[in-house]
Amino acid sequence: MRKSRIVGVGHYVPERVVTNLDLEKIMDTSDEWIRERSGIVERHWVDENTSTSDLGFEASKRAIENANLVPDDIDFIVMATLSSDYYFPGAGVLVQEKLGIREIGALDVRNQCTGFIYALSVADQFIRTGMYNRILVVGAEVQSKGLNLSTEGRDIAVLFGDGAGAVVLEGTDEQDRGILSTHLHSDGRYAKMLWDECMGSSTPKLISQDLIDERRFFAKMHGREVFKHAVIRFPQVIDTALKTNNLTRADVGLVIPHQANDRITEAVRQRLQLPKEKVYSNIRKYGNTTAASIPIAMDEALEEGLIHNGDIVILAAFGSGFTWGSAAIRW
Ligand code: ACO
Repeated sequence: MRKSRIVGVGHYVPERVVTNLDLEKIMDTSDEWIRERSGIVERHWVDENTSTSDLGFEASKRAIENANLVPDDIDFIVMATLSSDYYFPGAGVLVQEKLGIREIGALDVRNQCTGFIYALSVADQFIRTGMYNRILVVGAEVQSKGLNLSTEGRDIAVLFGDGAGAVVLEGTDEQDRGILSTHLHSDGRYAKMLWDECMGSSTPKLISQDLIDERRFFAKMHGREVFKHAVIRFPQVIDTALKTNNLTRADVGLVIPHQANDRITEAVRQRLQLPKEKVYSNIRKYGNTTAASIPIAMDEALEEGLIHNGDIVILAAFGSGFTWGSAAIRW
């Protein structure tokens, strides 16, 4: 049976670094509070002229080069983001245009922090059925432009960063490596636990002065509810990935979780009883980059030599929706 494997990985973050100390100057927060609650020390934010597809393009270029391919070798694009350049069209076609690839399909996935896992799973299915052979899967995010940078918005503003990561998936007939399984879940009862209602069709107008005056353009989060669900769903969906493939926790080479918050990652690690070196974290440098966090982390883990041929790598995410998911990979 045809399967897919990752043959190229790349990431890109904008140059500008914003530290916790920088945030202290614009809102009532502290380096200590942010580090203690999230593990974040700094994050990268774009300048005003840079958009999500710009970041996605840079990461994609690197992933395609890393696979020793050229853009024209790509058959299809799956783009995950919650912060598209425009209300429509989605950012996938913009990445396609920037890469100079003509007429291939570009699909946009909107599953927030779980976006990259959903995108990877969709791409994997297309390859398994033989419809496409090489798919570019991108996770890119510009969060900084939507943050409420006053004290009122500090619970969310301190957590998020901008960045992009991408992988090239390719079909293979090798049975003992590649993506072994993916698992996708959602529970829309919790949609309003972490959401941004504007711009959407549920409000009387897409944009109005009232919506601006009522400050409804900013994302809202019930932090404790998110935390409570995340620490249950992450271990569940990681265990599902292992069980499906007759693997145990001892078989795990590396877990690459969505970088939501180090306290969540640490709670998940403890529940799974995995040693620290088996659960990757780079949130201190980037904050939460939503759909981009897993491919950025994967690229850095590879650069650091933490993933070897034959290793079992488990990707897992939880986020707004609520959505959650995992992917089991034999590298
Ligand atoms: N700086 C200083 N104080 C702050 C800040 C801040 N940036 N943000 C909130 N506070 C204050 C609040 O106003 C509140 O003050 P009050 O008690 O006077 O009302 C107090 O801190 C709340 O403190 P705690 O109750 O101790 O906060 P908690 O321990 O719940 O931590 C946090 C908050 C970090 C948001 C936590 O709930 C959490 O980690 N939730 C998960 C959220 C998350 O990771 N979201 C990421 C997106 S979803 C995803 O990717 C999975």
